[in-house]
Amino acid sequence: MIDIRSDTVTRPTPGMLEAMMHADVGDDVFGEDATVNTLQRTAAERFGMEAALFCPSGTMTNQIGIKVHTQPGDEVICDEVSHVYLYEGGGIAFNSGASTRLMKGNRGRFTAQDVLDNVNHSEDAHFPHTRLVSIENTVNKGGGCCWDVSEIEQIRKACDAHGLALHLDGARLFNAIVARAEEPKRYGKLFDTISVCLSKGLGAPAGSLLLGPKALIAKAHRYRKVMGGGMRQAGYIAAAGAYALEHHVDRLKEDHAKAAAVAGELARCSYVESVLSAETNIVIFTLADAVDTQRFLQHLKNGDVHALSVGKQLIRFVFHLDVSPAQVDALIASLRKFRPS
Ligand SMILES: Cc1ncc(COP(=O)(O)O)c(C=O)c1O
Repeated sequence: MIDIRSDTVTRPTPGMLEAMMHADVGDDVFGEDATVNTLQRTAAERFGMEAALFCPSGTMTNQIGIKVHTQPGDEVICDEVSHVYLYEGGGIAFNSGASTRLMKGNRGRFTAQDVLDNVNHSEDAHFPHTRLVSIENTVNKGGGCCWDVSEIEQIRKACDAHGLALHLDGARLFNAIVARAEEPKRYGKLFDTISVCLSKGLGAPAGSLLLGPKALIAKAHRYRKVMGGGMRQAGYIAAAGAYALEHHVDRLKEDHAKAAAVAGELARCSYVESVLSAETNIVIFTLADAVDTQRFLQHLKNGDVHALSVGKQLIRFVFHLDVSPAQVDALIASLRKFRPS
């Protein structure tokens, strides 16, 4: 089976399983799990940030990240296609009681000017207090596109000018870092909090890290408990994350090459209307109007390829470490064979 529905479908590699089996564990709710403590410390150091908190999921690190910055009634500026807004069950309202001001960015990337144009005047009691800007890198719904760090720097300046915090949903931040040959510390300098997933392209079975200053991470620790995210011998999972950070970052470029090859092929398919340029491991494309999406997905399934529809005529392929080069060839062959009618 070629499973390109998401990069979350990977299974731990033998080396990762070995690392998990030998993890030095303790009760992490008591702060006694050596593997979790090491993962948190080394991840924070990698980004030049003070502290980190290991959580079960990216949804939790995003939601806690938003909660540590906001009070009920505050407003969060984010893009209309952002995961924190679209795919976290209304968590911003549910967990933080905050409202959202949605930007219409370019594939999920908005500008510093957009931020400046949407900050509410805090003295006017009619408006919610704008408190936080949240950006996503890479942008999932934007087809895995990357932000230009220079634009983020301008957004940071806009935030500083208006007393706003800046959060990064970096579920796939390492894809951006590898694609753009960037330094993690550059991100650490720009954001108040960063959420990084270990269970996407990095291949761990679960786990995300929230990075930030010590005081905010102490607050986050409390919210993790409140949300039921305190895990006990979590080191078995953290060991997988630590292994992924050590062994699976550089190889992300292989996934990017697979995505680029398939995107190139799709651009040549007559039944494809358009393909978003593949910057990292995600390919989003639009089928021509005459093509029945379900028929296309069924054609792929008949060749044991599992993909997802993410909107009208929109299909998403996500590449990861469990898709081999031979499977990419098989996928390309299947794309060539499809007849829309
Ligand atoms: C951009 C982005 N942020 C956050 C998440 C949430 O991660 P999790 O599934 O671990 O809750 C995802 C999941 O796919 C994602 O794509």
